Order: sequence, then C-alpha cells, then structure tokens
Amino acid sequence: MFGGNTDIGIDLGTANILVYVKGKGIVLNEPSVVAVEKASNKILAVGAEARDMLGRTPQGIVAVRPLKEGVIANYTITQKMLEYIVNKVAGKSFFFKPRVMTCIPVHITSVEKRAVLEATIQAGVSKTYLIEEPLAAALGAGLDIMVPSGKMVVDIGGGTTDIAILSLGGVVDSDSVRIGGDKFDESIVRYVKKEYNILIGDTTGEAIKKTIGNVHPGEEIKSMNVRGRDGINGLPSTVTVTSEDVRKALEEPLETLIGRIRSVLEKCPPELSADIVDKYLSYRRWSVTGWLGKSTGRGYGDSCDCSGESIGLCGHRYRKGAG
Ligand SMILES: Nc1ncnc2c1ncn2[C@@H]1O[C@H](COP(=O)(O)OP(=O)(O)OP(=O)(O)O)[C@@H](O)[C@H]1O
Ligand SMILES: [Mg+2]
Repeated sequence: MFGGNTDIGIDLGTANILVYVKGKGIVLNEPSVVAVEKASNKILAVGAEARDMLGRTPQGIVAVRPLKEGVIANYTITQKMLEYIVNKVAGKSFFFKPRVMTCIPVHITSVEKRAVLEATIQAGVSKTYLIEEPLAAALGAGLDIMVPSGKMVVDIGGGTTDIAILSLGGVVDSDSVRIGGDKFDESIVRYVKKEYNILIGDTTGEAIKKTIGNVHPGEEIKSMNVRGRDGINGLPSTVTVTSEDVRKALEEPLETLIGRIRSVLEKCPPELSADIVDKYLSYRRWSVTGWLGKSTGRGYGDSCDCSGESIGLCGHRYRKGAG
C-alpha cells in the first residue's frame, strides 16, 4: 500500500502506544503518558518516564494520559505526543514526511475519527490512514483474514474491548465496549474500599489485577499484601487481597463484556458462526480469555504473551484456540 517514504504504524492505545516502522519492526512500546511543562506547553517526557511522574509532579509540570476509553480526551497533548513520536522515529525533514497508519476502535464517532486524523496530520506526516483495531490485531497476529472463513477477535485493551468477526478481509460484525483494563482496575479499587475499608489508587488496583488476577473458577487462588490508607483512621494500613476478591470485583464488568460478545455471536451469519465454533482467537495474558471462552460457549482459548515480538501493527502474537 505504501511506497518509498518511511511508513509508520501507530497503535494509539489508551494504556500503551506501539509504533511500528516498516522494515524495522516495533521501535517504540511505551505507556501513553505525557509530561508537559505548563508554561511553555513543552513536552518533557513521553512513556515510562512520564508515567512515573503521574501524581508526583511539582507545580508547573503536568503528567497526563491524553486518551480515554480508546479515544482522544486531550487533543492538544495527543497531537504533541504524536509529533514527538513521529520526529523521534522518522526524524524532522521538510521534504520527506512519513506516511502513518493509526488504528482506531470500531464504532467510534466520525468526530472522534476526525480527531485522530487531524492530530496525526498536524504531527507532520504526509498521509494518514486509519484501520480498525481488530483488523490490525488479526493482521499483526498473522491470521489469514482474506479467506472466506469466520474469525473472531476479542481485543481487551486499557480503555475499550473490541469484538469483531472477520472474513474475506473485512469486519462482518463488531462491537466496541468502553470497558477494558482501566475499568477492571477501578472495580478492584472500589471492591477493596467496600470490603476492607482501605483506599488504594488505580496503579495498585492494576498491580493486584496483574499479580493475582484470574477470573475462571478453578484457577489457583493467590494472595498479596496491599498497602493503602485506612478509610476510618486515615493511617497507612496493609490488607491481604486474594484472587477470589479479584473475581468478585470483576464480575460486573466481565458480565457486561460477555453479554456484548454473545450478542455479536448472535448477529453473526450461521456459516461464519460454524467456523468460529472450531477456531477462534482471543487476547490477553491472563485467564480472562479462558473464562470468556467458556462463558460464550467457545471452549477455552490460549492467551497471547504480548512479548512485543510482533509482526504487525498491534504488537501481539497469539496462539490459536482449539481447532
Ligand atoms: N498480565 C496482565 N494481566 C491482566 N491485565 C494486563 C496484564 N498486562 C497488561 N494488562 C492490562 O492491559 C491493558 C493494556 O492493554 P493494551 O496495551 O492492549 O491497551 P491499549 O491498546 O493501550 O488500550 P485500548 O486498545 O483500549 O485503547 C491495561 O489495562 C493493563 O493493566
Ligand atoms: Mg489497543
């Protein structure tokens, strides 16, 4: 599709940004956080360095996550972040501007799409293209989507979960739910407060999810000590949280996800449905995939390890489910 210029693929995620340069592979895989000097609007740091500043910045510096629920929440900072990324990976040149393909969730509004296009153009690129995330994920995972056979992709990101059934190179049916890892973290924070009267932050909620989180009954129950602020006396306190707690905390958001996956399956043409019974693809590094698989009647899926050794835009590798 692209010609001689530098061709860049950007996964502008709510939680992480991945940048792919044709011929070089993934050159950037960083949290989508930007630290900006308020007075000059100058970018001080992008990625892990900026993430470490979240909630810890002095007056005059602000660290923000410019995307929320899969879409641009702070246009100016997103645009500056894209400019920084494009300059970093393609260099600043008046004549040779790169072409960029950015992935977007399915079912975003035309205004939200326009914002991604405009922000990318203003970042100093010659041409910009958009691709729906499940399509990019399937290509990145090396799935042959051009064949007349149904493939289902469930991509649980930080802000959104994209559900799609693909066949013959296109999206046959899809849905995008504004529930993802961020909502899971918030649910864990709320649960710990309700159950133990301890206040923890989203980062701790995420750490609990990643360290001991599993949602499939029958998985190993793990536990970890969590520090936070006692809701009664306001002093630092420690509690032990278990995988069982995580399951209960995530019941509600996951039930919603299951419902939405089911309705995509219900709308799916019967022939493609039959294909998906045999083969399916699901995402995420933890046992949520197995549970989703079981709850939607698809059997168990193996999750990808997301090690970044990818061959495509989204940077995920995968192992195929049964069949
Ligand atoms: N081992 C793990 N177990 C559970 N969740 C994980 C694990 N590792 C990462 N996550 C979660 O995955 C989410 C980030 O996923 P990803 O990088 O695909 O999101 P994104 O593409 O930036 O977001 P979106 O596509 O919604 O815009 C975060 O919420 C993070 O907490
Ligand atoms: Mg994503």
